[in-house]
Amino acid sequence: MKEFKRYTVTAALPYTNGPVHIGHIAGVYLPADIYCRYLRMQERDVIFVCGSDENGIPITLKAKKEGITPQQLVDKYHKIISESFAEFGISFDIYHRTSSPLHYETASEIFKTLYDKGIFEEQTSMQYYDEEAGQFLADRYINGTCPNCGFDKAYGDQCENCGTSLSPTDLINPRSMLSGQKPVRKETTHWYLPLDKFQPALEKYILEDHTEWKPNVYGQCKSWLDQGLQPRAVTRDLDWGVPVPIEGAQGKVLYVWFDAPIGYISATKALTPEWEKYWKDPETRLLHFIGKDNIVFHCIVFPAILMAEGSYILADNVPANEFLNLEGEKISTSRNWAVWLNEYLIDFPNMQDVLRYVLCSTAPETKDNDFTWKDFQARNNNELLAILGNFINRVAVLTFKYTGGIVPQSKPGPAEIALGLEIAAFPLKISAAVEEFHFRDALSEVMNLARLGNRYLAETEPWKLKEGQEERLHTILNTVLQLSANLSILCEPFLPYTANKLREFLNLGKLNWNDAGRIDLLEPGKQLKQPGLLFRKVEDEEVEIQIEKLQASKRQNQVLNVRPLKEEVSFESFSAMDIRIGIILEAEKVPKTKKLLKLLIDTGIDKRSVVSGIAEYFDPRKIIGQQVSILVNLAPRMIKGIESHGMILMAENSAGELSFIQSTGLQETGSEIR
Ligand code: 2FM
Ligand code: ZN
Repeated sequence: MKEFKRYTVTAALPYTNGPVHIGHIAGVYLPADIYCRYLRMQERDVIFVCGSDENGIPITLKAKKEGITPQQLVDKYHKIISESFAEFGISFDIYHRTSSPLHYETASEIFKTLYDKGIFEEQTSMQYYDEEAGQFLADRYINGTCPNCGFDKAYGDQCENCGTSLSPTDLINPRSMLSGQKPVRKETTHWYLPLDKFQPALEKYILEDHTEWKPNVYGQCKSWLDQGLQPRAVTRDLDWGVPVPIEGAQGKVLYVWFDAPIGYISATKALTPEWEKYWKDPETRLLHFIGKDNIVFHCIVFPAILMAEGSYILADNVPANEFLNLEGEKISTSRNWAVWLNEYLIDFPNMQDVLRYVLCSTAPETKDNDFTWKDFQARNNNELLAILGNFINRVAVLTFKYTGGIVPQSKPGPAEIALGLEIAAFPLKISAAVEEFHFRDALSEVMNLARLGNRYLAETEPWKLKEGQEERLHTILNTVLQLSANLSILCEPFLPYTANKLREFLNLGKLNWNDAGRIDLLEPGKQLKQPGLLFRKVEDEEVEIQIEKLQASKRQNQVLNVRPLKEEVSFESFSAMDIRIGIILEAEKVPKTKKLLKLLIDTGIDKRSVVSGIAEYFDPRKIIGQQVSILVNLAPRMIKGIESHGMILMAENSAGELSFIQSTGLQETGSEIR
């Protein structure tokens, strides 16, 4: 493999519209962090860059939902996200923001370069415009009736009821979600990146030069390329984001997927004045860690932008992961079906490495995978605690018991020589797996090293040695201490907090990857320190609390699974309705209909006939005497030849079941509902 002089490692910039969850961590940030920590221990020149993705529709929509400005939204989540990354030990060299002036400048410059080179195609098309809000509408800002299923709140890009992909013009009765008004079609101009023109270069770059990419990444790219690339609009009509830096583009911003990957470059500029060598020198290895939903943008769109610009290197690899599910279901931010990193850090203080361990062991490297709290508990109790924690604990107890915590002399026998050879093989095995982005395998090798230690102790049984066998006892203790020192090095990329505790116990400074494999890392005579607790048991109750938290989200979602809000009404319109408590005096089926009942209602004001579509749900004989809420000033309507004077109000749940709305207190007939 080509030797590189330096590494630029990027991790997908998370949208700043919510905290990050375990799916993000397992898919992107943890593997990237392991890789960078490993490279640093190899003393390679590496920068690890990331930041908040603060532009685009995901931000404006969420801000609207939370009732705050986009700026307030990104400030809020940037703080939450960056703090939880830091506390979790994700060792970015910089965590930047795409709302920063430096980013605006960088993204504008690159756009301008492409514009000046005549790369873009300008296209005019008709798009929906909200005249009242004075704004073009992104697909997500339009809703209307789905032509496929009739759902009346389908979005301009998709119907959430039947799942059909739509375009805004497919909607029947489109409405602007900004003003509720019917949008008009208006001409607008945008700049398109002609991906079709880059097709041959991209085919060479990916299909010929990077056959080593992970099959999921290579396969997705190939399928895009096989379909034939199309020009893509890289500007939007929106008032939040990087303004399009050319004359006559007022009110337009760069498409978020144009500016976001440039965020890696602006982050590097913020990190070092020598940023160019990390982006322009072919001896730099550029790597993008991402989730599978970002593949096309990192493997096709961003490289096309960089090719068009001309002075940048392209990614040498894009180790994208699949998705992590949670308790058998897709993680969903909107349904709150997630384990949020910031909440985990509160619920499990000082247990960063446990989550790092579990997420690395179950990372969706080749296929989607599942996180369950039971598995979390089992991996902690049966692996971290029972294998690694137990080994270190035994080493510490024995050393303090027999030598007062001083590293004893060693006189290796055949068992130690054999063990030494085994230890020596680990760094290479782990390196090989890490370099191939097989982090799960790499971590399981680290655990195998701890297992080896346990096995050696079980075989040599130092606690059974008698007086006069001190030399043997000391040799065994020295050996397990050397093995512990190896563990402190080799677990660092995966479990940095544990590595720190091991170094403290062993009174070791920071060692490099190349030091691992040796069994003379600890000098005889060196004083050790009593180690702190590495891991603790995770109890059933803790796991039950987490599962209950998820169940609560589920219940909440069932409540939320209701029709979307109707259009706003004025207070006056509402007060115009006269709703009373009434009582059903008579009820009978309307002949030749399935759904209708004719009711006689005492409204307190009068007794009147009302035709109501509830016959499928209620037996007329059983509802006589039932208290109801009735809209009494509804204009009379003829229904099946009967004049109906009002409407009974009913509650309907998501299964379509009806119930009467009655007062729980002893309201008299005729009481007003306001
Ligand atoms: O999918 C996402 O969360 C995007 N915000 C990722 C952007 S990655 C990069 F291009 F910035
Ligand atoms: Zn539909």
